Amino acid sequence: MNDKKQRRSAAWYGKRDTDGFIHRSWMKNQGFPDHAFDGRPVIGVCNTWSELTPCNSGLRDLAECVKRGVWEAGGFPVEFPVTSLGETQMRPTAMLFRNLLAMDVEESVRAYGIDAVVLLGGCDKTTPGQLMGAASVDLPALVVSAGPMLNGKWRGKDIGSGTDVWKFSEAVRAGEMSPAEFFAAESAMSRSRGVCMTMGTASTMASLSEAMGLAMPDNGALPAVDARRAAMAHRAGNRIVKMAEEGLVMSRVLTRESFENAVIVNAAIGGSTNAVVHLLALAGRVGVNFALDDFNLGADVPLLVNCMPSGEYLMEDFCYAGGMSAVLAELGHLLRPAKTILGGDISDYADGAECHNRDVIRPFDAPLKPAAGIRVLRGSLAPRGAVIKPSAATDSLLEHQGPAFVFENIEDLHAKIDNPDLPVTKDTVLVLKGCGPKGYPGMPEVGNMPIPRRLLADGVRDVVRVSDARMSGTAFGTVVLHVAPEAHDGGALALVETGDEVRLSVKEGALDLLVDDAELARRRERWSPPAPRHERGYASLYIDRVLQADKGADLDFLAGKDTRTPERESH
Ligand code: FES
Repeated sequence: MNDKKQRRSAAWYGKRDTDGFIHRSWMKNQGFPDHAFDGRPVIGVCNTWSELTPCNSGLRDLAECVKRGVWEAGGFPVEFPVTSLGETQMRPTAMLFRNLLAMDVEESVRAYGIDAVVLLGGCDKTTPGQLMGAASVDLPALVVSAGPMLNGKWRGKDIGSGTDVWKFSEAVRAGEMSPAEFFAAESAMSRSRGVCMTMGTASTMASLSEAMGLAMPDNGALPAVDARRAAMAHRAGNRIVKMAEEGLVMSRVLTRESFENAVIVNAAIGGSTNAVVHLLALAGRVGVNFALDDFNLGADVPLLVNCMPSGEYLMEDFCYAGGMSAVLAELGHLLRPAKTILGGDISDYADGAECHNRDVIRPFDAPLKPAAGIRVLRGSLAPRGAVIKPSAATDSLLEHQGPAFVFENIEDLHAKIDNPDLPVTKDTVLVLKGCGPKGYPGMPEVGNMPIPRRLLADGVRDVVRVSDARMSGTAFGTVVLHVAPEAHDGGALALVETGDEVRLSVKEGALDLLVDDAELARRRERWSPPAPRHERGYASLYIDRVLQADKGADLDFLAGKDTRTPERESH
C-alpha cells in the first residue's frame, strides 16, 4: 500500500488542524466512525440515479453493493449525486446536457477529497458524460452500468426497446396496426428496471466500457435485475480500492489501443452510431490521438452479435449466449494489447469464455454480416465527415444516387412528412437541416426521419436519409448522420435544395452533392445563419462553444488533457 500521507484524501481528512477538524466533523454527522478517517482510500461513488431517468432506477441498489465491496476491501465509500440524463424524458434532447453532466462530474471529483471513483451510469448519455468528466481529472475510475431491462414480451414474441417502437409507429401510419394495439404494447415493452434491452446506445456504451477495460467483465450484458450484476458491483467495490492503492489512473487504461479496440468491438456488436461522438469526445479529454477516420478501422469487421437493431435478439439473449467475453474471444486476433482496470490485458477478459448460442453470437468466420462497422463518409456534402451504420441499413441503398427532398428544419419535416402529395419516390434522398450540435441545439436523435406516408402506402420501408442529426442507437435504416459542418454552421448541407442530385457510395466512403461550384457559390452568397433557438443559460453557452460532430461535440474549452494536478486547496 502507498504511504497514507501521499493519498489525495489526506489533504482533507488526514490533517490535524482546523481544516481537518471541519472536514471530518461534518462527515461524522452521518455516523461514520473515527477509523473511516484513518488514511484508508476514500472512494467516490458517483451516482446518476433518478426517477426521471428510469433506465438508471436500479443504481441506488447497485451503489449499496459497490459500497459493501469498498468497505470489505478496506476503503471508505462516499456516494454523491450528479446530473442525471433521462433519454426518453428530456427535451429538447439529452445530448444537449451530456457536456453539462461531464462538467458536473469533473468539478465534483476534483472538488471533493476522494482518491478514486466508481461511475454508476446507464441511460445513453450518462456513461459518456461520466467518463468524460472523470477522464479530465484522471483519478483511478471504473464503470458500473445499470444493465439492460429484461426482454420485452408481447403477444407471444419478444419486442425490443426503441427498435420495435419505430416499427410499430410506421405500422400505425401505414394502417397495419391499430392505435389500441400500439398502446397495449407499451406496458409489455418495459418489464423491469434497466436500460433499453436492444443494442442501443446505453448497451453499446456499457459494452464498450467493458471492451476498453474500464469496467468489470460482464458489465455490458448482465440484465439489470440479475443477482450477478449486484455481485459484479460488489467486486467492483473491492477492485476500486486496490486501484486507488496501485495508482491505476484512467489515462493508463484510456490509450489509443483501447479506443481502437472499442471501434473493432462496436462493429462486431452492431453498436450505436452515437459511440462515434462519445468516443471522440472522450479521446479529446485525455489527449489521445484518435480521430473520426479511425472509425474506418471497423469497416471490415464482421457483425457477430445478432441483436436489434442490426439483428433479431435482445440483450438478455446476448448475456445467456456468453456476452462480451465470448465476443472478445472471437475477435482475439484483431484486438490490440491494452491495459484494463484489473491491471492485466484486455485478452484476459476472454479467458475461459464460451458461447452457448451460436445464433446469437456468431463465429468470426460465419458472421451475420461480413463487413459491418460504421463507415466514415466524406465528399462535397460532408467535407469534415459523416457516418453511416451499414449493418442497420438496406444493402441495395448503400450505393445510391437520387434527387434530394429538403426539410429546412424539424418543424418543416413534421409539417410535410404525411402530406399524401409529397413529391417523393423510393429513389428520393430525404435531407434534413438544422439538427446539428448548434442548430437544434444538442444534435437530437431525429436523423432516422419517418418514411413519407405516400411511400409507406406503396410498401417502401427505407430510403436514403441525410442530416446533421444523430439517431437513436435502437434505430435502423439507410441513414447518413453527423454531417459536418452542420447546416447551421454554414456547411454544404445548408446549400442543398430540393431536386439536387445526391450521391452516396459506402464502398467509396463518399457523400457528394452533384451541383456545380458556381451555383453553390451563388447560393452561399444568399445564405445567412438562422437565429439561435435558445439564448440564455447553459444552452447559450453550449451553442457558442460546442465543437462539430467530427470532434465529438464537446465544448471547446473542455477538450484537451488537463495538465493540472487533481488537487484543490482546502479552505
Ligand atoms: Fe435510457 Fe434507452 S432510453 S437506455
